[in-house]
Amino acid sequence: MSIPVVTVGPSQEAVVEGLERLQGPVTVVRRCEELTELIAACQSGLAVAAVVAEGSGELTTTLVDRLGAVGVMIVALTDDPVEMARLHSIGVVAAASGIEPAALASTISEAVGRDQSRGRLGSGLHAGFSDAGADPLPAPVADIAEDWSKNPGKIYAVWGPVGAPGRTLLAVNMAAELAADGQSVILVDADSYGASVAAALGLLDESAGLALACRLADQGLLDVKALEGAAIQVFTKRGSFRVLTGTTRADRWTELRAAALSAVLEQARQIADVIVVDVGFCLEADEELSFDSMAPRRNAATLRSLELADVVFAVGTADAIGVPRLVRGLAELEAVVPQVSARVVLNKVRRAAAGRSPRQQLEDAWVRYGPGMGIDAYLPADPAACDAALLSGSVLLEVAPDSELRMAIAGLVCAPVQQNRNSFGRTTRALGLHKR
Ligand SMILES: Nc1ncnc2c1ncn2[C@@H]1O[C@H](COP(=O)(O)OP(=O)(O)OP(=O)(O)O)[C@@H](O)[C@H]1O
Ligand SMILES: [Mg+2]
Repeated sequence: MSIPVVTVGPSQEAVVEGLERLQGPVTVVRRCEELTELIAACQSGLAVAAVVAEGSGELTTTLVDRLGAVGVMIVALTDDPVEMARLHSIGVVAAASGIEPAALASTISEAVGRDQSRGRLGSGLHAGFSDAGADPLPAPVADIAEDWSKNPGKIYAVWGPVGAPGRTLLAVNMAAELAADGQSVILVDADSYGASVAAALGLLDESAGLALACRLADQGLLDVKALEGAAIQVFTKRGSFRVLTGTTRADRWTELRAAALSAVLEQARQIADVIVVDVGFCLEADEELSFDSMAPRRNAATLRSLELADVVFAVGTADAIGVPRLVRGLAELEAVVPQVSARVVLNKVRRAAAGRSPRQQLEDAWVRYGPGMGIDAYLPADPAACDAALLSGSVLLEVAPDSELRMAIAGLVCAPVQQNRNSFGRTTRALGLHKR
């Protein structure tokens, strides 16, 4: 069967004529005036390959991801070796502009064949709802797998429901403790609603290192050096870690697209033992199911981070509002990322909110009415230590090294973090939990 192809670019006529003369393996089903027309044609299911005859500079990781999601491989023509390398890194097949029609036809069919034999792009490697694309990086799946085996940095996502349960406090201090433990760490602020890692660490940074890294990744220009350049190095008494700061201006969340974020996190895996990601609370994915637009998704960064995470730390406030929210949130989390390994953390544990012997109360309620997984850590409320850390833009190991809170966070991450310990399965009026 002939492969349906769409083309674009001022010099497409020669290419189209050459392919048509072959009367063979490919059929040009539409000649597009511009890239937006080509995208629309692809999204309507017209073609399985797109030939960009000129103007490949407009191709980005996000675009490749979106077209990959609707089953379209891109072949771009260029004579610039640097551009060829860039195209390759974002998953576009590049060929010389003077390529013979027969050779172009076989390049197209090979690319489509490879893609189909992969079972539509890496099946499950990054599959999910975080963007219209099912997979973030269509092309170098083999390369990624190879790199992972060389340096399999782990991704720890720190998530929690609405209500400021302490995601940022936990993420920042986890990063500091892991670094103090001798691990190489990158802390990423992917909270698209309320980025605050920079503020928590006293960094006067408006540049949003994560957005910069995503922009470079989108253009296929993110290498280790560029990633390191986008990050800020933070030093504590006991070690240092890198930080990719978040987008503090509300309207900049559009810069954190899923495909680009995937590329950033994958690159980060190459240079760090652990990548700690502070994510937003919202797991809604409904709008993600729409395949008809290139619109960015507000929750894409959170969802994609959760999909890629090796371990998700789910943080809830230990009171009558926070605990039920966490229970409901865990059910949503399971629906969104069923494969995830979740570790439950109850934060701000205090008698005034949970009763006498608060830990026991929480544990009893959780066993009877909770979602079936254990509680991995109880972090005590310690407003004095937290305020001191915020005031000085520092971490607990600096301002309250002997505090129970700091010790509990260190114990949570510096003992080997067990994966697959909690899987989703099955907790009084007290604490807002009702028998079901
Ligand atoms: N264990 C604790 N004891 C006392 N205060 C705490 C504790 N954990 C966090 N806090 C304080 O609670 C507030 C919210 O914490 P944090 O910013 O980490 O929450 P968040 O979940 O990241 O919220 P957001 O929704 O804004 O992202 C901060 O003032 C923080 O210092
Ligand atoms: Mg936060």
